[in-house]
Amino acid sequence: MPKTENCSRDAKIQGTAQLVYKDIKVDLDVVEGTEGELGIDICQLRKNTGMITLDPGYANTGSTISTITFIDGEKGILRHRGIPIEELAEKSRFIEVSYLILFGKLPTKAELDKFSALLAEHAALHSNLEHHFSGFPNDAPPMAILSAMLNAVSCYHKEFLDIVLDEEGFMEATARIMSKVRTIAAYTYRKARGKPFIHPNPSLRYCANFLHMMFSEPYKEYELLPEIEKALNLFFILHADHEQNCSTSTVRMVGSSRANLFSSVSAGVCALWGPLHGGANKMVIEMLESIHSQGKTAQEYLEMAKDKTKGIKLMGFGHRVYKNFDPRAKIIKKQVDKVLKVLNLDDHLLHIAMELEEQALADDYFVSRKLYPNVDFYSGILLRAIGIPLDMFTVMFAIGRMPGWIANWKELLDHNQRISRPRQIYNGPTLRSYVPIEERE
Ligand code: CMC
Repeated sequence: MPKTENCSRDAKIQGTAQLVYKDIKVDLDVVEGTEGELGIDICQLRKNTGMITLDPGYANTGSTISTITFIDGEKGILRHRGIPIEELAEKSRFIEVSYLILFGKLPTKAELDKFSALLAEHAALHSNLEHHFSGFPNDAPPMAILSAMLNAVSCYHKEFLDIVLDEEGFMEATARIMSKVRTIAAYTYRKARGKPFIHPNPSLRYCANFLHMMFSEPYKEYELLPEIEKALNLFFILHADHEQNCSTSTVRMVGSSRANLFSSVSAGVCALWGPLHGGANKMVIEMLESIHSQGKTAQEYLEMAKDKTKGIKLMGFGHRVYKNFDPRAKIIKKQVDKVLKVLNLDDHLLHIAMELEEQALADDYFVSRKLYPNVDFYSGILLRAIGIPLDMFTVMFAIGRMPGWIANWKELLDHNQRISRPRQIYNGPTLRSYVPIEERE
């Protein structure tokens, strides 16, 4: 059998792996990434052998070769375009990190100014779009509104529906989405509370403008504390990208059909909504509240989370990739302490969370399964301190994840990647005949 044709793009080929099955013998290229990760290239496997691989949940499947984000789950490493998350969290701001993720380099002052100006310019929603909000019930789930509104925005930007965007067009479309997602989020919050919309103020920076639209009143401007602005920047930075997670893979899946950027990120919002993904940040607080209100001890809750018959998990714990620690969780925990101190707040839920963490990390069930706190374990406490209500938590994650989704959509198209279309092993009934209804038992 000939050596398979590879689809490794410009990654190094580091040798071959041999697959032997009955009389089939095939050499498969082993591809090595810049950080030494190895992958067996099976792009031509079915063509050459008639077989496919089986990997539900894709835990062993690389869907792409990417240059955006690197994670080493065993060592707790997260880097965007090579720069460690710890450095970005300490020294950068969300918009600068977004630029890095989107365009592959740290911006010069002029480039950052240009991008910031575009964000400021495009924050407002078309007045017709503002009317859309009255069509949603007051108690509508904010993630449903966000996804619907992002798709609706595309109706007013048909010039960006062409997937072949040049660099300027891509930046223009990106700025509109990143800016408007924040406006949509703030309007969703205000609509649910029967408050009038507060329009964006182009003289404010990204996070400050968001807080202004959320919390200013027509008669009273929101008083911004620098620590709160910093904490929000940090929250968004820590959520900005996370390689091929469920929602990013969804954006890529949708984008692979050459669907436009607006509909692709709108699909990302839907995928993020689930409690096993972005929805976990809300579930963590609900879990902590329920432990508090039911007067349970941390140990009692852990016993329930370990009992598979109960269908309960320790929310904010565990990760598909991180098997040692989630670096984002470490950074956010430190920030929670700082913000609570500055605001002179003592959140009882923080005490419960810390006790749960301490006991879980000493419990063989969690240790043996390599379950550690993930980004969501402490992020909810940070959001509460900023004043963000529970129903908006996952929307906050979506605002933060926008640069990652957009960069992945762009990379997919730059690579001219084939439409995503996995296969399956069929294990249902074999051929049988249709039985008329009167003859059925
Ligand atoms: N509490 C109790 N048991 C758990 C937990 C948990 N939080 N997470 C995993 N396990 C158990 C799981 O039942 C399985 O046990 P066993 O081997 O006995 O069958 C074992 O640990 C391995 O777990 P898994 O389900 O194979 O892990 P996965 O990679 O499929 O799922 C996860 C990863 C994050 C969905 C899962 O750990 C989980 O549901 N965690 C709680 C929800 C959560 O915090 N999600 C946020 C993830 S981070 C932010 C994001 O990217 O969205």
